[in-house]
Amino acid sequence: MDEIYDFALKDIDLHNKVILDAAIGAGHATRIWAEKIHEEGGTSKIIGVDAFEIPGEDQEEWKKAIVERLGKFKKYVEIRKANIFNLDFLEDEVIDIINCDDTLVFLNPKPLRVLQALSEFRRVLKKNGILVITTELPLKDRREGQWLRWNFAKGIYEMNGERWSTEIEAEELKYALQLLNFEIVAERIFEARRSEKYEAPMKEWLQIMMNYIHNLPYSKNLKKSLKGEAERIYKKIENEGYLMMPPYYVVKCRKK
Ligand SMILES: C[S@@+](CC[C@H](N)C(=O)[O-])C[C@H]1O[C@@H](n2cnc3c(N)ncnc32)[C@H](O)[C@@H]1O
Repeated sequence: MDEIYDFALKDIDLHNKVILDAAIGAGHATRIWAEKIHEEGGTSKIIGVDAFEIPGEDQEEWKKAIVERLGKFKKYVEIRKANIFNLDFLEDEVIDIINCDDTLVFLNPKPLRVLQALSEFRRVLKKNGILVITTELPLKDRREGQWLRWNFAKGIYEMNGERWSTEIEAEELKYALQLLNFEIVAERIFEARRSEKYEAPMKEWLQIMMNYIHNLPYSKNLKKSLKGEAERIYKKIENEGYLMMPPYYVVKCRKK
C-alpha cells in the first residue's frame, strides 16, 4: 500500500489544514496522514469519522484500537461517529482536504449512493478544497481464488437481501466527480498484486462465511452445499499460496 499512499499524499500541502478522513476504519490511512502532518510541522488536524456500525464490532474497542494504532500521532486526530451521507455536524465549506480511503465500496448501492456521498463532500469542502479518493476496482480475472472469494461472499449476502460491498469502475467515479464539478488533478491505477499474508484474513473470512450461512433461512442441504463451496474456495487460495490484492484507483480532485 505504501506506493498508493505516497501517490495519494504527493503534492498535498499539509500546513494549517483541516482534514476530514471519511471513513477512518481501522485507522491505517489516518496514521499515515498524521505522520505526514507531524513531519510537516504539526499545524494541521484530522477529523476522522466512521459510522462504527459493523455488526459484532464493539464501538469502544474499535476506537481504542484506532488510538493505539495512531500512537504518538493521536494528538492530530479527533475521532467522531458520523454518517458520510449526512455530515451535519459540519457547516458548509469548512474543510480543506478530504481523504476517502477504501470506503466507496461500502456506499451501496452504486452509483447513486456514491453521488450522495460526493455531494456531501462537496458541501463541506472549501472552494479549491482537495478530495483524495482511494478505492478498490473490481478484479477481472475469474480464475483467481480471490475473485471467487469476493463474488461468493457477495452472492451469499445478496441471498439474504443484504449487500456487502461493490466496487465502482474508475470511469464511473470520474463521471460522478465531473457531474459534481470537481476538477481532476491527478489519477493513477495501481494494478492487482499478490500478497503472502493470506492465512489470517482467509481463516477469518471462512469463519464469517460459515456463521453467516449457518444463520440463513434455507434448507440444511443448501446450507451444506454453500459451506462446502466456501471451504473449496478457501482451499483453492491456500493451495495457490497467496491472496490477490485488487487493483486500486487513486484520484485527486479540486472543488471548482
Ligand atoms: C475499509 S474501512 C476504511 C479503511 C480506513 N480508511 C483505513 O485506512 O483503515 C471502511 C469504513 O467505512 C465505514 N463506513 C461505511 N459506510 C459508512 C457511512 N455511510 N458512514 C460512515 N462510515 C461508513 C465502515 O464502518 C468502515 O469502517
